[in-house]
Amino acid sequence: MIYLDNAATSWPKPDCVPEAMLHFLREVGASPGRSGHRLALEAERVRLDAREAVAALFGAPDPMRVVFTLNATTALNIVARGLLSPGAHVLTTGIEHNAVLRPLRALEQCGVVVDMVPSARDGTVEVAAVEDNVGPRTQLLVVNHASNVCGTVLPIRAIGEVARRHGVAFAVDAAQTGGCWPIDVEADHVDLLVFSGHKGLLGPTGTGGLVLGRGFHAERLPALVHGGTGSRSEDEHQPDFLPDKYEAGTPNIVGLAGLLAAVRYVSARGVEAIRAEEQALTQRLIDGLMGIPGVRVVGTGKAQLQTAVVSFTLDGHSVSQVALALDEQFGVLCRPGLHCAPRAHQTLGTAPQGTLRLSPGPFTTTDEIDRAVEAVRQLAGRRTDG
Ligand code: ALA
Repeated sequence: MIYLDNAATSWPKPDCVPEAMLHFLREVGASPGRSGHRLALEAERVRLDAREAVAALFGAPDPMRVVFTLNATTALNIVARGLLSPGAHVLTTGIEHNAVLRPLRALEQCGVVVDMVPSARDGTVEVAAVEDNVGPRTQLLVVNHASNVCGTVLPIRAIGEVARRHGVAFAVDAAQTGGCWPIDVEADHVDLLVFSGHKGLLGPTGTGGLVLGRGFHAERLPALVHGGTGSRSEDEHQPDFLPDKYEAGTPNIVGLAGLLAAVRYVSARGVEAIRAEEQALTQRLIDGLMGIPGVRVVGTGKAQLQTAVVSFTLDGHSVSQVALALDEQFGVLCRPGLHCAPRAHQTLGTAPQGTLRLSPGPFTTTDEIDRAVEAVRQLAGRRTDG
């Protein structure tokens, strides 16, 4: 089997991840921040260590500004619903995932004005075009760091400078880049960094979160979910301090035990080193696919400008039929279709059918890339529609 669906969820995980989760379930098990007994304290230590590991990875100076959520989507909802009230203007791009666009579309029904900076057909976005679209009512600029469809990476530092200059909150959806592309919330001028735990960070599903930049005042962002936190229990109102303000309810602490092990693994291996390996695999994949008659690779076609995500179409074939044949006949696992990002596919010219997406990860080998390319080559020469 050749797993090329790391953009959806990375797999396999380093052994330390399931081991840490099993250890936690067997030996600790308790809820953090509650009860005060020795197991609860041990659970809290795991959660704090996870905050510290994530903060260090993203250049965040204070681990208490790392908030854990179930996934990037929840974190994006906290950001959008918290910051935008009727009449506010929000700016995003034409290459976003529904995790950004659906909360914004829902808010549009309540009087929020949503604008999209146009993206070029290769997924790139001009910084000057971002600045041209910022207005006096703009409250939030939210962009993905890299497209989950074509991998194109946006220049977040330059976009962040625009946001800072205009006093607009800057949120970055780093679901596709956390752990496989360098990010520094302070140097990149990010106010709100949304991350996913189960992709490049190599943690389990059900983990993700939000990092608040040093200059962002949490008073600006109300909590989305209210409830027990184990702190200030005498008060019926949600605590206003970080991170408890955004962490009501028992957390996925087993997942955080896995995430801690995963982030330690990624940090030890090095984001730059992972990036370099993935870049080489990505270019090999792009070059291999582009050599097949009928294949059209979308995006920039340059691995140095994108994450390890390669989307393509194959003339005369339906993407879902090719994906099925890749799985059943060659053991190549990928994701076909719209990838929860119809707007990105419109921008790339691949709507409504979408693309086949092959996404290598830190455990993918060159041999697997070559075998996947060969499988596509063989399918390109056959009928896959029945
Ligand atoms: N957003 C994830 C993907 O691109 C699930 O597949």
